[in-house]
Amino acid sequence: MLASGTHKIDLVMRKNIVAGNWKMNKNFEQAEDLVADLTEYFEENKPKCEVIVCPPFLYLEMASDYASESSVLNVSAQNVSAYDNGAYTGEISAEMLKGLDISYCIVGHSERRQYYNETDNQLAQKVDKLLDFSVAPIFCIGELLEERESNNHFSIVKEQLENGLFHLNADEFSNVVIAYEPVWAIGTGVVATPEQAQEMHAHIRELITEKYGDKIANDTTIMYGGSCNPKNAKILFANKDVDGGLIGGASLIAEDFVKIIESF
Ligand code: 13P
Repeated sequence: MLASGTHKIDLVMRKNIVAGNWKMNKNFEQAEDLVADLTEYFEENKPKCEVIVCPPFLYLEMASDYASESSVLNVSAQNVSAYDNGAYTGEISAEMLKGLDISYCIVGHSERRQYYNETDNQLAQKVDKLLDFSVAPIFCIGELLEERESNNHFSIVKEQLENGLFHLNADEFSNVVIAYEPVWAIGTGVVATPEQAQEMHAHIRELITEKYGDKIANDTTIMYGGSCNPKNAKILFANKDVDGGLIGGASLIAEDFVKIIESF
């Protein structure tokens, strides 16, 4: 269980989640407008899934303030330091996120793996730091196009899971959310087919079963990410092992993000 307080989540249960990863977008005013629009909309229209926004660090406090007044909105960071507090210029620690009452944090997004050379070992450390402070990791895994084309996608995803998460004990693992994001689908407009998504999500759940057993595997939330939009969300989310989406581009426009959320 996560720490109590103002958290609206109980991560032991599997649930449907739609999360908006804003990446490095929006000035402060635009960011606040988006959070305010979502908060207002969901006061009147209760969603059938959990809703998370993942703004840049500088907007977390603002978003967290809105979330504390909302019965719907949760907030996630996009990254965290692999270290405790100390002489790490430019970094943000898990303790700092916890101090703002942030519930989740994305770890191992493919953009961080690719552009910032984040290694599996560092990602495993980030997961540990977050769990120390009861911030739930949203752990991203997914293969490159050439890995899928050479039929290595299943083994790549297995390796990412094993290296990033399988050092955790069962209780710790129960606080982790997984996002399968095939790199070839991110920001490309080329979405995975519902069959490709379901096949990989089932594979991920099977790997979790082998490691932690049926109960934990069935209780794990596995989101899909990569060119998910208002048109394709419903058919993706209809798959039995797809528990929602981690949305990039389409989460920047309130209307589109709401439509995706209402696909449930
Ligand atoms: P897009 O939805 O823009 O493809 O991005 C997905 C993503 O990277 C979410 O983390």
